[in-house]
Amino acid sequence: MQIRYLETDAQSHGTPLLAIGVTAGADPSSGVLSALDAVLGGSLARAFEVGDMAGRSGDEILLYGGGTGPGRVILLGMGKAEKVDAEAVRRMAGRAVRAAERLRIERVSIVLDGLGGVAGEVAAQAAAEGAGLAAWRFAELKAEDEEDPAVDVRSVDLLGSGDTDGFVAGALAGAVIARAANLARTLQSRPGNVATPTHIADEAVRMAGSVGLDVTVFDEERLREEGMHALLAVSRGSVEEARFIIMEHKGGAEGEAPLILVGKGLSFDAGGISLKPPGGMEDMKYDMSGGAAVIGAMQAIAELGVKANVIGIVPSSENLPSAKAMKPGDVIESLGGKTIEVINTDAEGRLILADALAYAVKLKPAAMVDCATLTGAVVIALGHHAAAVIGNDDDLARELIEAGDVSGERCWQLPMWDEYKKQLESPTADLQNVGGRPGGAITAACFLSEFVGDTTWAHLDIAGTAYGEGKLSYQRKGAYGFPTRLLVEWVRSRSG
Ligand code: BES
Ligand code: MN
Ligand code: ZN
Repeated sequence: MQIRYLETDAQSHGTPLLAIGVTAGADPSSGVLSALDAVLGGSLARAFEVGDMAGRSGDEILLYGGGTGPGRVILLGMGKAEKVDAEAVRRMAGRAVRAAERLRIERVSIVLDGLGGVAGEVAAQAAAEGAGLAAWRFAELKAEDEEDPAVDVRSVDLLGSGDTDGFVAGALAGAVIARAANLARTLQSRPGNVATPTHIADEAVRMAGSVGLDVTVFDEERLREEGMHALLAVSRGSVEEARFIIMEHKGGAEGEAPLILVGKGLSFDAGGISLKPPGGMEDMKYDMSGGAAVIGAMQAIAELGVKANVIGIVPSSENLPSAKAMKPGDVIESLGGKTIEVINTDAEGRLILADALAYAVKLKPAAMVDCATLTGAVVIALGHHAAAVIGNDDDLARELIEAGDVSGERCWQLPMWDEYKKQLESPTADLQNVGGRPGGAITAACFLSEFVGDTTWAHLDIAGTAYGEGKLSYQRKGAYGFPTRLLVEWVRSRSG
């Protein structure tokens, strides 16, 4: 899809569909609205007069133009101007794309004026993200409906005036970030028999080659040499070989401590010997969402030329029951040197992350963030509207909460007090891999904290936010790409 910024008047812009956000109480007799009304023969003003368009968040009106200018104009109510933020603009742009799809139009133009206090670079980036995310769909495994083929929006023009540099930069960044999140969504959406650890690694290598990142992939022989016994223990039950993916962006000074992103790449989680119940198990193809987001984020970081050294790490495995699989009660070794009593083989994410975090620590990062669909408990704690951020540094947690607010991929901090750590004490090994039901998202993070040493670190539990019903305009049912945008925003915020 092409997304570009055009400094042009909406009323004279030739396009099959022009979308414009309208805030509550907007005046149709001034600014862009009145200019548009003039080419729409007065119908825009009449929509306001009769009350069909009052800028309420659900309001939506389609008007038809004549000869010059836009062929159609869709007015999208956005609610109170003072409540309009970047996320509201993302959603408005998503609605513009959905309107184009309904009208079977492959091109839409979106006006960036009149969006409350959101303007310039922020407005352009948010609109580009919303449009780019909305247009994505996962079509590679399903035949097209011949009677009613889906429409792909291929071109989005963002229209504005003034602050040209800001608008251009925002549109470019938003397009890159949406494409990165969409790469993550495509990888997430692929089922376990397609997106195996080997496939995920191959895709990371392909991505790295296309944007100029260095990439290294460890196979199982190398994992044994490295001592990644926890990742290997999870992978034992599967005929699919584990992979460990390392992507490197060298945008900072040589020798400057890197930022490290780690993503859980569990290509399918059946639970292992502690087998999950069958209901909804198909969703466990999404257990590599963290890894997908890290691969997506690394693509964007490379394309944006971020001026920092950034390393993305994805440990990838299946978790299946078999005659060779690890069993409850087994004691396994880990790269960090600690022994782990496996009480529940379904708490496998923390095992593969233990090795990944211990590996990352050796690279001496300035800070590291992992993201993982780690626990059902986080869904109970925060529902589907925020990820949990849990770590050993409150400043880093605050940075992530801020990046979440800016990117629209929110997270909220849960504590990691010593009392929780006690729940992981094992009579047999250095620690056990589960801490019981109470505070399940927190004890999972406590487990990870055992492998990060003194490194500044935070964990994002994305089990409730990585995929879902697709209620927002720019989402679809299924994969969300969460937290690709958050990670990119955090890295950009750290690189000045
Ligand atoms: N991948 C799951 C977590 C998960 C649950 C992701 C729901 C998405 C939706 C993880 O590996 C898991 O099975 N966690 C267990 C941990 C428990 C055994 C301590 C869980 O949350 O039940
Ligand atoms: Mn599991
Ligand atoms: Zn899992």
